Parts: sequence; C-alpha cells; structure tokens
Amino acid sequence: MKKILFQLLIGFLFYPFVSCREEFKRPEVQIIPQPATVINMEGTFSITSQTKILINSESPEMQKVTSNLCRRLEYLYEINNKISFSGAPEKKSLFIKLNTGLTISKEAYNLTVSQKGILLEAPSTSGLFYGIQTLLQLMPQIKQKLSEVVIPSVEIRDTPRFSWRGLHLDVGRHFMPKEFILKYLDYMAIHKFNIFHWHLTEDQGWRIEIKKYPRLTEKGSIRKETLAGHYGSNTYDGTSVGGFYTQDDVKEIVAYAADRFITVVPEIEMPGHSLAALTAYPELGCTGGPYEVATTWGVFDDVFCAGKEDTYTFLQDVLTELLPLFPGEYFHIGGDECPKTRWEKCPLCKQRMKDEGLRSEHDLQSYFVQRIEKYLNENGKKMIGWDEILEGGLAPNAAVMSWRGEQGGITAAKEHHFVVMTPGEYCYLDHYQANPKNEPLAIGGYLPLKKIYSYEPVSAILTEDESKYILGAQGNVWTEYMKTPDQVEYMVYPRAAALAEVIWSPKGPRDFENFKSRLTRLTKLYDILGINYCKAAFEP
Ligand code: ACM
Ligand code: ZN
Repeated sequence: MKKILFQLLIGFLFYPFVSCREEFKRPEVQIIPQPATVINMEGTFSITSQTKILINSESPEMQKVTSNLCRRLEYLYEINNKISFSGAPEKKSLFIKLNTGLTISKEAYNLTVSQKGILLEAPSTSGLFYGIQTLLQLMPQIKQKLSEVVIPSVEIRDTPRFSWRGLHLDVGRHFMPKEFILKYLDYMAIHKFNIFHWHLTEDQGWRIEIKKYPRLTEKGSIRKETLAGHYGSNTYDGTSVGGFYTQDDVKEIVAYAADRFITVVPEIEMPGHSLAALTAYPELGCTGGPYEVATTWGVFDDVFCAGKEDTYTFLQDVLTELLPLFPGEYFHIGGDECPKTRWEKCPLCKQRMKDEGLRSEHDLQSYFVQRIEKYLNENGKKMIGWDEILEGGLAPNAAVMSWRGEQGGITAAKEHHFVVMTPGEYCYLDHYQANPKNEPLAIGGYLPLKKIYSYEPVSAILTEDESKYILGAQGNVWTEYMKTPDQVEYMVYPRAAALAEVIWSPKGPRDFENFKSRLTRLTKLYDILGINYCKAAFEP
C-alpha cells in the first residue's frame, strides 16, 4: 500500500514533465489511406529547425515536392528548414531521394524513419509527393509553435492499388469559386487522390469560357432563379445566380493540381444536360428554342440536335479551345441521361439516321458519341463517358464511368474497355450520410461512412484479366443541394477519406473501427485546415 502511495506521489510530482501532451509522446502510426505495409520500430526522430532537408535532384518538380513539406512544417509548427542538394544522407537529416533505379511502381515510395534520420525514396516525384503526405500524417496533428516535431520510427513500403483515384465536383448546378477549387485540390492531395473530375457544364449553367462562343458564359452561365426545397416543391428563390471560370482561371487550377500530382479531367456534357448551351445558341437544338437555363433539377428533353452538322462543328470548336488547357489523357463527354424525345420528332435527326443507316435513337446517340471520340482521338485524347455510352454500341477506345450500379462497368471491362467505378449506391457523396432528420437538405439516398468504406471496386464477376480494366473508383459530388463550398466540404468529408482508402490501400478485409480511430486523428488536421466535415458521419 505504502509503495502505491509513493508511486502516486512520484507520479504527481513528475506529471508536468512526463505528461501526455501530444507533442512529447511517441505518436502512433495512424495513416489514411492505410499504407501497403507498415513496420513499427522503437524510438522516434525529431525534426527541428536545424534538421537539414536534403534532396538529390534540384529539378523544379523536386522543389515543389519539398516546398509542400516545408510549407506545412512552417504553418503548423513554425519550423523553418534549410533545403540543400546532396547525393547522400547526412547524420540526423531528412533525405529525399529520387531513385529512378527503384523497381517499384511510379507512384510508390519507401519511407524509413529511425533515430538516425529519415529516408524517403521513390522512383518518381509523384511517389515522393505521396511519401511526404504520409510523413506529414506521422507528425502531430496540432498547430502550435514547437521546438521539435517528434516522429515515430517506422518503415513504410507503399504503393497505390488503383491508378484512377478520383473525386468529382459538379460546378454546373452551383458554381464554386476558384479559391475553393484550389482548396478542394489541397484536400484531395492529403488523401492521395490523383484525378479531379471537373463537371463544367449542365442544364443549370455553363461554367467555362469559350472565346469563340461568348454567349455560352454571357447567357448560359446565368439562371434567373433556383428551385427552393426538394425536387417537386415548385417554389423558387427568385434570385439570379451565375459564375464561370475564365481560361486563365482554368490554367491556374490545372497547374495548381499538377503541382499536387492531380490530373484534371474536364467534362463537357453532350448530347444531354445541355440546356444552358442551347439557351446561348438555340439553333443547336432540334426545335430551335427559345430555351431557358434550367431553374430546377432533373433531366430535360431539349438536348443537342444530333442531325445538324452545326452541332458537331460547335462541339469540335469547343473541344479545340479546351484540349490545350487540359494536358491529361482523358476527356469526359458526359453522355448520361439523354432523352430521345426531340430526336424522335426532329426531321434532321431522322434524316441523319436514314443517311447513316441507324436503326434507333440509341444508335444515333452512339453515332454522336463516336464522332466526338474520333475527334478526341485524332487530337491525342482518350474519351471517357457515363455508362449510357454503352447503349447503341461503345465507341472503339472509350472508357466507361459506371454510375448506374456496376453493370455498365462490368460489361465494358468484359469488352476490354477501361472502367472507372462510381456506382451511386457506394460512391455518390450527394446522398445523406447520417439521419436525414438531422441533416441539411440533400438530394436523397443514404451512404453512411461504413458503407463507402466497405466498397470493393473490382466485382467478383470479373476474371483476373478483365479486372485489369478497372482503373479505379471515384466519388461524385453533385451540387443540386450544395449551394456553398462549406456544404460541399460537409458532404465530401469525412467520406472521401474512406473512399481514398478503398482506392489506395491493398484490397480488404477492412477494419472499420480501426479506420474510424485513424480518421479521428485525421480530423484534427481537418479542424486545423478548417475543413467543414460532417461529425455525425462517425455515428453508427
Ligand atoms: C449521373 O449521375 N447522371 C452521371
Ligand atoms: Zn434534331
């Protein structure tokens, strides 16, 4: 008894020196997305302002990678490090080594933290960038001036499971300012997403400057009011809204994304979801209009006329302006939810069907999409579209984004087309994530954190060979009921963290409780960065 009292007294006296303040204890290794392998080791390494950051290449890309690290050290802990060029590590240094001889995948990295120092190695700068994201998560998730940043000793070997790790954003329904898009990219980078699918045109707004067709943004970016409340409410807010990105904005965003190893995949919707474009240029619709930028949600009968040659000229002109702005491999042409109502009645559409020997309006859509694909391919791009592009026959080299469940993706993979899985049930971040009674108005559905975390992008129906056509998966963020950046953040986080793990980490089984515990730690960073995540998402 005496001994216990003595220990308590000692504990009490020395408590201030051995307290559990986060910056002093050996932090746990809690990373999202979970790296492929993690070996915990004894001890820690401390980064101080004296710690030398050494790089073995002085390329601009390498500078960008390291400046991302230094910015965070300075922002969170007021630690400023000197970066020097060196072919080899020094004692107690942080050595960032571009090692093109490493035979691991392009985006993979090896990170070793020991009492002697830190070694981060990768065969490409993207791998180094991801290694730095991991290293940043090993640091205390606090914003406070520190004399040393204590990092647990650990050996990490990491590589992504999929090459398409996407997050989408619909800026058609609600325009989001450029400054927010930059933040969106920052947050994506933390989670090792590498594709930003930017849904730029919609019935409710055309959001990108096209110099040859100025009315697209002068008229097509503005709607006179917006539906208030749920679909079918028939009440409107009476407020005109607009917004678009100039081509200079786009250049800035694409470059900002590239610095974070994120490729921007633009989407220009065709032949459906095109009412804003038709409002600007009514001669491109079957009836000739007049049309009005949509003020409510849903699917509209007025779509680009597939019979008029002018439609193809217009779209090719639009693509001609846009292709140089987006250096990525893929261009998204939409292709979803295109009613055939107007085409069935339109003499020019009927004539086109006759001339081309097309038996149905589905075939006409296929003809439309294949013409656009040909143009994209001739101009060095691959085409991707929503799974409706399968109807009437898939364009020869097209990739498919499977959203109406997985069937479209499975069919496409079996036909040896590349596929991105985004089934609504698992990947639609516009669905409610907690009890709708207590949540801000959303479009509907229910996708709790646990469910998105349980998603497996490669269907068991596919053979091993067919599975190779699954490029990855993506979270879709439709903004009918997200009027502000704050609301977008609320719907996207923390669910995007679960998806990030699904697409980066090795195939399950997954331990949701373990994920939640790691996520709780990551939300401290969300708090510091001001990410407006949904706290109710943690509830069962
Ligand atoms: C979609 O959700 N209409 C692709
Ligand atoms: Zn027509």
